[in-house]
Amino acid sequence: MGETGKIVTAAEDLVAPVNVPAQAYISPDYARAERDRLWRKVWLQAGRLEDIPEVGNYITYDILDDSVIVVRSSPSEIRAFHNVCPHRGRRLIDIPPGKRSARGTRPNFVCGYHGWTFDLEGTNTYIEHQEDWQGRLCDGLADLGKVKVDTWGGWIWINLDPEAMPLAEYLHPAAEMLEPYQLHNMRPRWRKWVVFECNWKVAMEAFFETYHVSTTHSEFMEFGQFRGWARNQGLHSNIGYDAPAGQEEDSGKLRIGAGEDPRLTTAEMQNFTWENANTNTTMTLVSVANRLKDELPEGTPAAEVSAYWLKTAREEDAARGVVWPTVDPRHTAKAGTAWQIFPNFQIGHAVNNMLCYQARPFGADPDKCIFEAAVYELYPESEAPETDWEYTEPQDWPPVLQQDFANMAAVQQGMKNVGFRGAQPNPYAERSVASFHLNLARFMGIGNPTTY
Ligand code: FES
Ligand SMILES: [Fe+2]
Repeated sequence: MGETGKIVTAAEDLVAPVNVPAQAYISPDYARAERDRLWRKVWLQAGRLEDIPEVGNYITYDILDDSVIVVRSSPSEIRAFHNVCPHRGRRLIDIPPGKRSARGTRPNFVCGYHGWTFDLEGTNTYIEHQEDWQGRLCDGLADLGKVKVDTWGGWIWINLDPEAMPLAEYLHPAAEMLEPYQLHNMRPRWRKWVVFECNWKVAMEAFFETYHVSTTHSEFMEFGQFRGWARNQGLHSNIGYDAPAGQEEDSGKLRIGAGEDPRLTTAEMQNFTWENANTNTTMTLVSVANRLKDELPEGTPAAEVSAYWLKTAREEDAARGVVWPTVDPRHTAKAGTAWQIFPNFQIGHAVNNMLCYQARPFGADPDKCIFEAAVYELYPESEAPETDWEYTEPQDWPPVLQQDFANMAAVQQGMKNVGFRGAQPNPYAERSVASFHLNLARFMGIGNPTTY
């Protein structure tokens, strides 16, 4: 059994089956230890650059006891501060009740308790009766504490550890592999969040692999079956599909339907995906798919249907000012369909849209998390819709996600069962899960996968 196996510390060993102990998902002690060992050490995706386009625009990002203010302090500069007043510790910016985070615009930050004031650089500009401190409020003692901040992919990233490695180093090789997709040009179509009854790792892992698709989302099987892989990528991992022979140009995410008439099954799959997941496709792709039966003769081979569909959609988007980047098919095959950015962010990339998941603990309870998903696409210049994080009860999410939710809640329950012996992820299709725990253990000092 796993408990007696060899502790896995090297990514190379994840090609063999490993056991992942349940502790990381269910132990209150483990959950408590995460704050200091994990969340205060890693780079965290804290928001989108388009959320703070103007000087003075700010957002907050909360992770357990910590809250961070991210503000555009000048047209070319983003700064991040601990969301706490250095006077007597009042949280500087309140999160409005029921909201995921605060978002607004201010010329400066004024503490609601005694009025200490800070400019957008975090420097204190006003203290009532400052002379009472006898000149001691110097050397930044009255200023906001700085938090490391950087940007990549159109996202703002923060790190609570002043000694943290640079973001570019941290994101390697995910950032380079995703660069051709120009993710910074995409804008959200929708963004939803919910407090859910499972550990944040259970939530993330529900999207870390495609092994579950044939069972959990069996209706997709009508459109063809594709074998999924998962690979360790240092701190991160990625997943993808083995490309069907002769379909190089869609060896990434954009799949045509299988079956007798690929013109029809592609349209069916696109309509189904749009209606039930509202992700992984765009209105342009759906509408071109629906015209395939009129624009291509019966009997057109699958590879040709695929090529025509993608070429036409690309051209129609270009005509309205939406230019898809061109990515070498060999790169697409390597980049796969999604990247798991350690520890709690997943980017499901494509050339014209993306689906991102993130999850955070909700308080110290290992059985609860804040789960979030956002779908992005390319829009014509300044035509992106205004979106914000919308609290959405589980039953109001797209149906395909509700299927995942059902697993998440049941896994959290099941893992607590006295008879559960630890997870046994598929070494080929779910190596991302084992890789995640290998990296978690590096931060936590416990919970390594073991061989069996
Ligand atoms: S705690 Fe902020 S001014 Fe007193
Ligand atoms: Fe799923």
